[in-house]
Amino acid sequence: MHEFCNDYNGNHHHSASRSAFTSRRCDDYTGLDGDEDGGGISASQLLLRSEGKEKMHQQFDVEGLIRFAEFLRKELPIRLAHRIQDLDQVPHLSEMTSVISVKSCYVDSFRAITAHPEIQSEVDESSFASLLHELYLNHSGVLINMARGAFQLRKHQALFHSNDFSRVEDDIKCIHAFLDRFHSCRIGIRVLAGQYLALRSRPISHTYSGMIDRRTSPYQIVRQAIDDATFMCARKYGDAPEVIIKGRLGLTFPYIPSHLHYILLELLKNSMRATVDTHGTNFPPIQVIIADGNENEDVTIKVSDEGGGIPRSHMARVWDYLFTTADPAVQETFCHAAANNHVDHGIDSPLAGLGYGLPISRSYARYFGGDLGMMSMEGFGTDAFVHLVRLNNSSSRTAGLTV
Ligand SMILES: Nc1ncnc2c1ncn2[C@@H]1O[C@H](COP(=O)(O)OP(=O)(O)O)[C@@H](O)[C@H]1O
Ligand SMILES: [Mg+2]
Repeated sequence: MHEFCNDYNGNHHHSASRSAFTSRRCDDYTGLDGDEDGGGISASQLLLRSEGKEKMHQQFDVEGLIRFAEFLRKELPIRLAHRIQDLDQVPHLSEMTSVISVKSCYVDSFRAITAHPEIQSEVDESSFASLLHELYLNHSGVLINMARGAFQLRKHQALFHSNDFSRVEDDIKCIHAFLDRFHSCRIGIRVLAGQYLALRSRPISHTYSGMIDRRTSPYQIVRQAIDDATFMCARKYGDAPEVIIKGRLGLTFPYIPSHLHYILLELLKNSMRATVDTHGTNFPPIQVIIADGNENEDVTIKVSDEGGGIPRSHMARVWDYLFTTADPAVQETFCHAAANNHVDHGIDSPLAGLGYGLPISRSYARYFGGDLGMMSMEGFGTDAFVHLVRLNNSSSRTAGLTV
């Protein structure tokens, strides 16, 4: 499930207890001053130079956590302020009620963090962690609220009923660029806060450094995503296509498992829906291929289906936050439900119909320097390619990557 939306380490209820894992040093954060979104910290710093520090029982390093917390106390308000300004300026979308509520969530967080005193002691650090934990949870509904905002905007198409077509086109481009920016910056903020919080709570296993699993297994994540997508597909259609996994099943590499799970679940949901819609019964299997050579710069995963493909004229639009070929009623119902309850963007969401599965998945893939691409053969099927950069300190590609 999409634990990343709810929590940084897959637990829905955990205390920020100080485990032996919090002994990891956070020296890397010393003296870092973030200047802009994504400009503050490198991917390898995020990994906390975990190599050679895999022993569980090191002395608890409160100093490191204090420095990490102090870094966040300064960095997060800068990033939040950029988002607030952007939320204010985006044409039309800024007027939608759910976007206004997202903005107030950002403003509240900005105020709460800037009101926190400087972090100099263990007590300060602990109170900052409680605050951040609360804010982290407060923000878990932001994705759905932004989707509702886009949906509200589509319903208020009157805003676009101008005869000035070039103006309308510009506004739509502007909104799209805003959403790309918004979602990738949001991932950045949640990775930083989530990494800090996960470092000071009990790790899922000894292979974890905060949110990062040094031995992320694409095979295991694909299997989990298949189970989840199968459940969602069978709930809608009564049956689901089989999925065959091929390639380097034994591969592990450092990555944030919840990001990879998000991407694969979205791709598998799309492939399952297309396969069922195209074939009715007797489904051709979907294939997932995990490729990686020892010297490859990327880990690449291909999800291949025979679900009829995508017409070429639709190809660019699949990256639109509002583009879906599913029944519009699906989005209406989900947005309505989300307004009344705390629906998580996980297994509770519909198989298809919200329209942002692909663009958000691409933001996750791009976040650490990877990418997501689609190739279609209309009348036959679609191949989705996920390219992921290995997050390790020695890699020249991650060395220059800021998060
Ligand atoms: N594997 C696929 N085969 C055929 N069409 C696809 C596939 N993946 C995506 N699409 C098309 O792209 C659209 C957007 O996908 P997505 O962003 O996941 O939103 P949603 O699934 O909610 O519609 C889908 O509605 C569908 O028309
Ligand atoms: Mg989808």
